[in-house]
Amino acid sequence: MKRVKAIYPGSFDPPTNGHLDLIERGRKIFDELVVAILRNPEKDPLFSLSDRRKMLEVMTADFDNVSVDTFDGLTVDYAMRVDASVVLRGIRAISDYEYELQMALMNRKLQPGLETVFMMPAEKYSYLSSRLVREVAQLGGNIDCLVPDLVAQKLREKMDPAHKFDNSEPAPKRSRKKQS
Ligand code: PNS
Repeated sequence: MKRVKAIYPGSFDPPTNGHLDLIERGRKIFDELVVAILRNPEKDPLFSLSDRRKMLEVMTADFDNVSVDTFDGLTVDYAMRVDASVVLRGIRAISDYEYELQMALMNRKLQPGLETVFMMPAEKYSYLSSRLVREVAQLGGNIDCLVPDLVAQKLREKMDPAHKFDNSEPAPKRSRKKQS
């Protein structure tokens, strides 16, 4: 029988409980799931690529059909390289839909054989985004129920002035898009 391999691409800056919820759902319906972190030179991430990778590896350590990887360039090209036939994306609210639809249709135009599958995280995570987690943490709010313990710990370290200048990745501008 054909095995279905999916990629779950994203920024994961930082990974949240919503991401983890989606990974848990995705791994039940796909034979293999690769969490693929985009290396995006246009973004100024809070966490380095290797930090994000480590956090996701710890979060998914118990899931035998889930792996974590990083990629550059087009998602469709990465999917072809790793022989995946599905792109998994989460939709939390109707506001996500327009951006996700555009991306899914563009990806289909670029690679007609690749299907995008949307899944909804648990309702309790429908308001949760990495951007809001970063903001709440930066302003001293409690993020304990929003991210796994390890991520909460890393965020606290980032907010500690002693760790503030620890991020080695380059800076520049942000573009308007869905809050990841
Ligand atoms: O977690 P995010 O930031 O919402 O993830 C967005 C991501 C990484 C899935 C998207 O920006 C992407 O696929 N980037 C790779 C470049 C690409 O393929 N662009 C064309 C998308 S239609």
